Amino acid sequence: MSILVTGGAGYIGSHTVRLLEKLGHKVVVYDNLVTGHKAAVKRSLFVEGDIFDSERLADTIKRYHITSVVHFAAYSLVGVSMVKPKEYYHNNVVGTLNLLDVMLENGIKQLVFSSTAAVYGEPENSPITESMMKSPTNVYGRTKLIMENVMAEYSRSYGLNYIALRYFNACGAEGAGDIGEDHCPETHLIPLVLKACLGKTQCLKIFGDDYPTKDGTCVRDYIHVNDLGQAHILALNALANGHGSDVYNLGNGNGFSVKEVIAAAETLTGLTLPKEIAPRRVGDPARLVASSDKIRQDLGWQPEYTDIKKIIATAWRWHKNNPDGFEYQ
Ligand code: UFG
Repeated sequence: MSILVTGGAGYIGSHTVRLLEKLGHKVVVYDNLVTGHKAAVKRSLFVEGDIFDSERLADTIKRYHITSVVHFAAYSLVGVSMVKPKEYYHNNVVGTLNLLDVMLENGIKQLVFSSTAAVYGEPENSPITESMMKSPTNVYGRTKLIMENVMAEYSRSYGLNYIALRYFNACGAEGAGDIGEDHCPETHLIPLVLKACLGKTQCLKIFGDDYPTKDGTCVRDYIHVNDLGQAHILALNALANGHGSDVYNLGNGNGFSVKEVIAAAETLTGLTLPKEIAPRRVGDPARLVASSDKIRQDLGWQPEYTDIKKIIATAWRWHKNNPDGFEYQ
């Protein structure tokens, strides 16, 4: 397999690239470095390019005899998507359509696609299974659902074989602690909590404590980034072995509230963090917890990190070693 990884210099992308390389796969990272970090893939074969640049994409596919694509390149911040919908539709929908065109023109029909739990919106039941109603409450989720629908049609009409992986809340970092989460702006809970532990955030904001959950704060299913990476490898292998198009949830199946996450980080670090209750964040569903039975059964996926404290500990190692992210690497 020769694998093109768009967005491979991003958070989940760089972790997946590292796992693929460890297995000896030929990997080409394709990233425009708008949100990705060159330092996250410093030992990898790297092409700086945009998914809108059809010529560069086609050249890369031909030059490296690409057989499959893992497509991470996208904007992924729920809150930002609500204030900048144009950017999100343009990048995540139009950009992905462009990538699909180039792939099909060059005979590439195997694709692993980054989707999200945000496609479900406020789910009718918990845990969430893949067949439940999809009704996103934010623009980010809508962009991913649109592309899932497009890919289903391309699969029927053009023989595209794709596996869409609906991530719940990606978190944690690689064991070595030299790559990890570094977004700008950072809006995700765990990195913000750990930045507060480092004294880099004045006061943590808890967005809403009046949700219908155990302690009133939002509940999420936190899944380690390496466990997500492993699922991409299983998906690539399945496609290479003739598996048809499919969609899978990726989560641990355990829900933790915002307050529980903060408490776990406080226990881990021995600190008490400054925090305050703030208004709800627009577009946030109350509870998102996955059933990942389908991928466990079909592809044999088994998450290694199931303890929230251990997951946060891997992220803490990264943040402590790199308080300014990749900036000074
Ligand atoms: N939160 C706070 N304070 C903060 C930041 C976050 O209370 O300073 C809360 C949020 O309101 C939410 C929870 O912490 O309830 C988790 O928020 P994140 O921003 O870390 O993650 P999201 O659940 O909003 O989104 C993440 C991914 C999306 C994905 C979604 C699916 O970023 O790509 O999980 O569950 F779609």
